[in-house]
Amino acid sequence: MDVDKIARGLRDEGFVAVEDVLPSALRARLDEGCCEVDGAFSSSGMGRGAGHNTDAAIRGDVTRWLEDTNEVDQLYLETMDVLRSGLNEQLFLGLVDYECHYAIYGVGARYGKHLDALAGRTNRLLSSVVYLNPAWALADGGELVMYRGDDPEPIARILPQPGLMVLFLSDEFPHEVLASTRSRHSIAGWFSGRVSSAGVGR
Ligand code: OGA
Ligand code: MN
Repeated sequence: MDVDKIARGLRDEGFVAVEDVLPSALRARLDEGCCEVDGAFSSSGMGRGAGHNTDAAIRGDVTRWLEDTNEVDQLYLETMDVLRSGLNEQLFLGLVDYECHYAIYGVGARYGKHLDALAGRTNRLLSSVVYLNPAWALADGGELVMYRGDDPEPIARILPQPGLMVLFLSDEFPHEVLASTRSRHSIAGWFSGRVSSAGVGR
């Protein structure tokens, strides 16, 4: 993983897409963990507390958290920890934690435009997503569409190609996942900083 390149992209643009971040054997093993067995995946919904809802028309993926007791999961978590400390060294981001889940978007599933970090709810600083599914064609849909701030024009449309990783500042880039005609597999994760003394993130 080219930490220098990622750090440069984040410094200059606040967002970066990097190909082939994982050895393909590891990607394939991770993809094996990204399939529905024994109902391990569930719809995670949006928001917290009273604002929590699971409207599949807005968010249709099913997810399962990675765990460091699982050997394959651990390999990915270790990779992301190397990235975390590398980014801290280069960008002084103060990332202290990382959590991530496998996500499956079945045929037709989408995730409407949203921000990963909502003020007062979370201290997510940096979002990551890596795609695990086999090679993807434009006609398959399922693009990640990225926006910057309030600008309604997309700044990027990204096909979920295997091994591609996208990283972006969680509170600056609204984004959406378009519906696809195939099952779309990924690991989505969030680096967070220390919770502020008020206990409400930012
Ligand atoms: C998310 C998300 C993007 C993607 O899980 O919050 O926006 O391309 N995922 O899967
Ligand atoms: Mn998101």
